[in-house]
Amino acid sequence: MKYAVFALALMFTTGPAFAAGDAEAGGKLFTKTCGGCHSIGEGARGGFGPELNGIIGRPAGTTTDYQYSDAMKNSGVVWTRDKLAAYIEAPKKVVSGTRMIFWGISDQEKIENILAYLETFQPK
Ligand code: HEC
Repeated sequence: MKYAVFALALMFTTGPAFAAGDAEAGGKLFTKTCGGCHSIGEGARGGFGPELNGIIGRPAGTTTDYQYSDAMKNSGVVWTRDKLAAYIEAPKKVVSGTRMIFWGISDQEKIENILAYLETFQPK
């Protein structure tokens, strides 16, 4: 019993050090800062913004149920982790003329957490 508690404590203290970001914290942040415009997960669809399932590696402007700006459609961007991180930090620096009105997040830890959360929706 004592050992189990110890193991659990160990898991909590060493766990996050292995992962690039904290997907759970990222999920909360996503709901708060992106969720008003974007949906993700089972049954996600385009709304105010495009749905974001499998976004890592997806070419920009390619979901079929969303009307993108020309800027996004013609950007030629592929959403790698690096591009996404840069876009979350400053959308217009990555796709100038994007319709996504977002002030940007500069805290790198928060960006990593959001990316870790987005990664949980990649096709297996
Ligand atoms: C105020 C609404 C709004 C918020 C908040 C918002 N977005 Fe967006 N987002 C949009 C819109 C609108 C577009 C489409 C832009 C275009 O067509 O130019 C978009 C596009 C995107 C794209 C490109 C998708 C594709 O299919 O190419 C990504 C990735 C993205 N947003 C991620 C995020 C993330 C992550 C957050 C939170 C950190 C966020 N957005 C917050 C409205 C928003």
